[in-house]
Amino acid sequence: MGKHLGTLIWAVLLSMLAANPLWAAEEDEEPAPFVTPELVVPEPASAVMGWVDSREAQSLNGSWKLLVDPMQVGTPGGFFGGWATTRTPVDAFQLLEYSYPDAADIRVPGDFNTQRQELFFYRDTVWYQRNFNVEAEADTRYHLWFGGANFDATVFLNGAPVARHKGGYVPFSVDVTAHLQPEGNDLVIRINNRLGDDTVPTGRTDWWPYGGLTRDVMLVATPEQYIVNAKVVLNNDRNAITAEVATEGFAAGDEVTVVIPQLDISQTARISDNGDAQLSIPAQPELWHPDAPKLYRVELAAGDDRVSDQIGFRTIETSGTTIMLNGEPIKFKGISTHEEPIGRDGVAYSKADMRVLFNEAKNLGVNFVRAAHYPYSRHAARVADEMGILLWEEVPIYWNIAWENADTLAIARDQISRLIERDWNRASVVIWSVANETPYSESRMKFLGRLIDDVRELDDSRLVSAALLGDTRRELKHVAAHLAAHGQGSDIASDEEKAIFQGVLAAAGEAAPEPGSSFTLVIDDPLGELVDIVSYNEYFGWYYARALAPQMGVSEQTIRKLMLQFIPQVTMSTAFGKPMFISEFGAGAKAGKRGEGVWTEDYQAAVYRAQIAMLSHSPQVQGMTPWILKDFRAMLRSLPGIQDYRNRKGLIDQNGRRKQAFYVLRDFYNGPWADTH
Ligand code: GCU
Repeated sequence: MGKHLGTLIWAVLLSMLAANPLWAAEEDEEPAPFVTPELVVPEPASAVMGWVDSREAQSLNGSWKLLVDPMQVGTPGGFFGGWATTRTPVDAFQLLEYSYPDAADIRVPGDFNTQRQELFFYRDTVWYQRNFNVEAEADTRYHLWFGGANFDATVFLNGAPVARHKGGYVPFSVDVTAHLQPEGNDLVIRINNRLGDDTVPTGRTDWWPYGGLTRDVMLVATPEQYIVNAKVVLNNDRNAITAEVATEGFAAGDEVTVVIPQLDISQTARISDNGDAQLSIPAQPELWHPDAPKLYRVELAAGDDRVSDQIGFRTIETSGTTIMLNGEPIKFKGISTHEEPIGRDGVAYSKADMRVLFNEAKNLGVNFVRAAHYPYSRHAARVADEMGILLWEEVPIYWNIAWENADTLAIARDQISRLIERDWNRASVVIWSVANETPYSESRMKFLGRLIDDVRELDDSRLVSAALLGDTRRELKHVAAHLAAHGQGSDIASDEEKAIFQGVLAAAGEAAPEPGSSFTLVIDDPLGELVDIVSYNEYFGWYYARALAPQMGVSEQTIRKLMLQFIPQVTMSTAFGKPMFISEFGAGAKAGKRGEGVWTEDYQAAVYRAQIAMLSHSPQVQGMTPWILKDFRAMLRSLPGIQDYRNRKGLIDQNGRRKQAFYVLRDFYNGPWADTH
């Protein structure tokens, strides 16, 4: 052992010597062995570069190289030298312990978890690398534009760290004009998809934290003076189109022009000294609607810059407990989704993926999709615009977040502002959601209050919501009493169980409900004061029985059977005079499993029938997005032979095989709720 240790010590000393020759003039600080220094890296551009699909851009999608780095040795300045540039040994004597040219290929866009089986559960650092050439033109700026990178990305170009972005799913870009060379630009991206207590989301999610360059990557060219972004929407009076334009490099007094040929509109405004310009243009456009998703070509011009987009014009607001689309009441007949394609594991990163997924949603008869729980690619809202699907988009403030951590808040604020600045021209997007099932606390209220303020400052033309949790303990107490009242006369319960129900009712005293009496559940989470639509996740028929059975000392089978009879007697409401929305209900089923009990299609369909009976007679409920269209990957869901790391609450399985409950929901949307829009 002594000999080996001695060799190792020599190796360490020699490498330190190489890094810092003893004859160095000044006393350089000794690099501590094996400690990787924190890199100082610039932030990306704070504003999202919009309208990119109309710009001259070189796609950097395709085959990249990938190195896996579980011990973060690739970071420059560390003991092993760093992997921020492509290097190959000059001869047989040069020792290099990494190589991009010899590394395996990886497709971009796409997560690395499902492209390499050995990376399926991997939650740490990888390094992407590719070369690209560019024929740079004069008076042109070049921006590296990323549709999103999960979850902590550092960009190196020709060895220089040019940007670091924390927080996945949303676009970021950086002007790299100064770093470009004509040939062989060496582009390296370090990405760590580890999540923890202080990240957004945290490390515990009921979806797969797919990592990597999961979205498009482009080199976008702009003139020296260019349009950064613009929000173009119809005002709530539906008689004018407003445009808020942000520019870079122009002088105050320079002009920006908005042209909408089909509306015979061409209007100019002057750019102010902060680079912004505002226009309000009288207009009576044909309104975008799910039944008639009309889109207009909108062109912007400023200096030499030209951009365009296809934009639909509509209004969305609430009136009391009603949701109004274009001034008319509407019910959101929806379904929840995750950003996974049908037939393939991994991220649904393309327009084609989203078309297939949303088409199956349309087959349910929906007019609405809840794109849970994080920003999808920009293609999702684009496809929804074209197909006439209303969208709920959200950021992954999911379950318990580090509410008091300033860095966590900064990531959350960055994510929601980037999502909004990317999609604020998408007519399909009608709801921004700031949270999912976050337990009540003062610090949670402060954190979410800040996010909601940000949303309203950025975009007051859409609604704000959050998927709330009730006070499950209080609810379960009431439900237990009702189940006891219902069960004491039922032939479902055994004599022993009926005796237990008698005890529950006796303990409830005066408050004991009558058999068959209805139960009104009132959502009163204080967040309801701050949002426009009070949205609620409930799992009557699935989770509640698992909690109640042991508490009551009654078999889960009895509770489940009584619950299915009881649910239609429940009425959902809120303590706020606002529209109520059921953002989740559901049950798990393995496609093809039939008969009695959980995990069968029959049980899932029975839960849907009971839920629909309940929700369709709850007058405050103005929409629903049952959980969920498709079975999806989840590390929480391991049950061998049933889940195998998939959440099975889908109405279709991962390959698109429909379950019975698919037809139960479709019949409801095409039947009793058919004429609700
Ligand atoms: C929660 C949560 C979902 C989760 C679902 C489930 O409500 O919002 O992300 O997948 O329930 O338990 O299946």
